Amino acid sequence: MQINIEELVRPEVSKIKPYKGEKETRDYSLDLSGNESPYDLPIDIKKEITDKIMENPLNYYPKLYSKSLRCSIAEYLDIDVDCDQVMVGNGSDDVLDMMINTFINPGDRVLAAAPTFSMYRFFTEIAGGKYDYFSLAETEFTLDNMKKIIDDLEPKMIFLCSPNNPTGHQLSKDIILQLADIYSGILVIDEAYAEFAEETLLSHVNDHTNLAVTRTFSKAYGLAGIRLGYLLGSKELVNQVRKVLKPYNINSITSLIGKIILREEQLIENRVEKIKLERDKMLKIYSEYDNWTVFNSSANFVYIEGEDTMEFKKMLNENGIKIRSFDRKPPAIRITIGKPEQNRKVAQIFEEFKEANKNE
Ligand SMILES: Cc1ncc(COP(=O)(O)O)c(C=O)c1O
Repeated sequence: MQINIEELVRPEVSKIKPYKGEKETRDYSLDLSGNESPYDLPIDIKKEITDKIMENPLNYYPKLYSKSLRCSIAEYLDIDVDCDQVMVGNGSDDVLDMMINTFINPGDRVLAAAPTFSMYRFFTEIAGGKYDYFSLAETEFTLDNMKKIIDDLEPKMIFLCSPNNPTGHQLSKDIILQLADIYSGILVIDEAYAEFAEETLLSHVNDHTNLAVTRTFSKAYGLAGIRLGYLLGSKELVNQVRKVLKPYNINSITSLIGKIILREEQLIENRVEKIKLERDKMLKIYSEYDNWTVFNSSANFVYIEGEDTMEFKKMLNENGIKIRSFDRKPPAIRITIGKPEQNRKVAQIFEEFKEANKNE
């Protein structure tokens, strides 16, 4: 039958613009657009994974609700939480979506900062929620200001991304905790980049039933390809969110690799340290250019605003390097920190860019 499919679509879905990411306009030799780790798993670990896949049957479903993976995460975190306070998802996107599915009715308000990670809006709107945002400069993120915004908008859920994507800014832990004390909705702290920062709220989920912290294996652990993320919350919160969970949402191979990487604490730590050093070097380099506002970053990327940032992006693209850009006023770019030699290449193109602009 030939029917008009569009007429059957939920109005919330019909309005959605699918997520596009950065445009693929050419073949790039280096991708610094997705905040991934530049480091793949070492070859001996890959071999171990391959051997384990050969040994394990794939014709059976994975274990229901990924208990052993959740327990490995709880143990790895080394804080006072048990396996049942951890929920795993197909990337942290998946656990963020579970939070919305559990708590947001059509018409409920969801609040987040601007700019921030675009998926909060995406999931809210698919669920029929109303997405609101606040724009506060770093120094304006105070309890009083947040209270005013909450009193005004009465959101049922707030997403705080810390360090924030795309700015790299880390929010004050003290203020978030004070907020958790006075706010009667659900507070989700997205810590996708927390390994590159100095603070975390993970250990506070036991003190606040309304606090959930999400993490990912896609960034510091260098495993964006396996799609694994998790949420940590109080037992009360997780007991509710578990109701929307699809029973086999984590495949056996992801689970296997996830458990292996948790064993490699030292490897991850060394890589994170390298990336942080490189980040600070690149921040210094970009900051020497007066035309730009370079945001201080607690993550594995650098965010820059400036009228001529698009020209720099064009030069990088012409050299086969992909970065993320934002069509804002002023225009902005976000550049993932790569390996030292990759960052040197970016720095060299930046020198050429500055030189070219000097001659204008
Ligand atoms: C702030 C933030 N949260 C969550 C995610 C999603 O990560 P994943 O679904 O790969 O775990 C990203 C990815 O870029 C992100 O930047």
